[in-house]
Amino acid sequence: MTSLNVPGKIILLGEHAVVYGRPAIAIPVHDVQAKVTISTIKDADANSIYLDAPNVHISDWVHDLSEGQPLREAIQLTLSALNIHEFPAFQLRISSTIPVASGMGSSAAVSVALIRAISIHLGNPLSIEQQSALAFEVEKLHHGTPSGIDNNVVAHEKPIFYSRGEQPQVFIPGERMVIVIADTGIPSQTAQAVEGVRERWVSDEDYYEAIFDQISDLTILAKRAIISGQISVLGPLMNQNQVLLEAIGVSSPEIEKLVQSAQSAGALGAKLSGAGRGGNIIALIDPSHEQTISDALEESGAVSIISTRVTP
Ligand code: MEV
Repeated sequence: MTSLNVPGKIILLGEHAVVYGRPAIAIPVHDVQAKVTISTIKDADANSIYLDAPNVHISDWVHDLSEGQPLREAIQLTLSALNIHEFPAFQLRISSTIPVASGMGSSAAVSVALIRAISIHLGNPLSIEQQSALAFEVEKLHHGTPSGIDNNVVAHEKPIFYSRGEQPQVFIPGERMVIVIADTGIPSQTAQAVEGVRERWVSDEDYYEAIFDQISDLTILAKRAIISGQISVLGPLMNQNQVLLEAIGVSSPEIEKLVQSAQSAGALGAKLSGAGRGGNIIALIDPSHEQTISDALEESGAVSIISTRVTP
């Protein structure tokens, strides 16, 4: 039996701008996980795979799923990459505690978990880079024109500094960071949010490019602050990033309410994380304020709150 977990993720700075070639920073969130378990089925035809994915109400043979179904694609891409055509039948069980449509990388984590588990089960473990590259193909089915940051951070399971088309730079923070993640309860649809930015960018390229450059400057400063352990410098950079995300139209009244609530309750910095228009906000906090900030977020309508730590 093969069983493994892959974490969710948040983007600390740089979302959306990363689609336009600017850098972004993402960190894994181990408090939520996608889990895949594989076991051999003794009395079934060779080369057949049974998929049990209760979260998305699938319980079926993979060859009976429709073409283009992302889980089926992830499985087929993996078998092609492994160049394996003969194998004893097996069952794949997928479950996940990563909230969907919330900016936490649920689809990327499920794909990486699936790809990693199949390759281990069939005796030919793929490298992290190969897992990420295959998951990126599946991400395109989910999200249209993703940057590749989600599949990279969940595959590496480490904080990364990422620019589209380049290998991610894994980095270690100089100081412990405590981040509260609060869900607006409104679904965040990545493909739509990215497409919306694209339409506005087409109609006013200079304005959007200038904002992406400003986000890039903040992200580069943030990377330095994180590595040198200057957490107090990082917070205001996140706040400035939020103002720019609002300017490109990916915030929402619910996001603004949670961000302001975290800031007023003493967060060092707060912003949306991921595609926006809904989903999660993140707040960088001093641990002594954790309860006050969580209470304030709950009072302002957060439907769930996770507190995560990034350690040196
Ligand atoms: C999604 O987690 C982050 C976006 O920048 C899209 C992407 O990078 O693919 C909004």
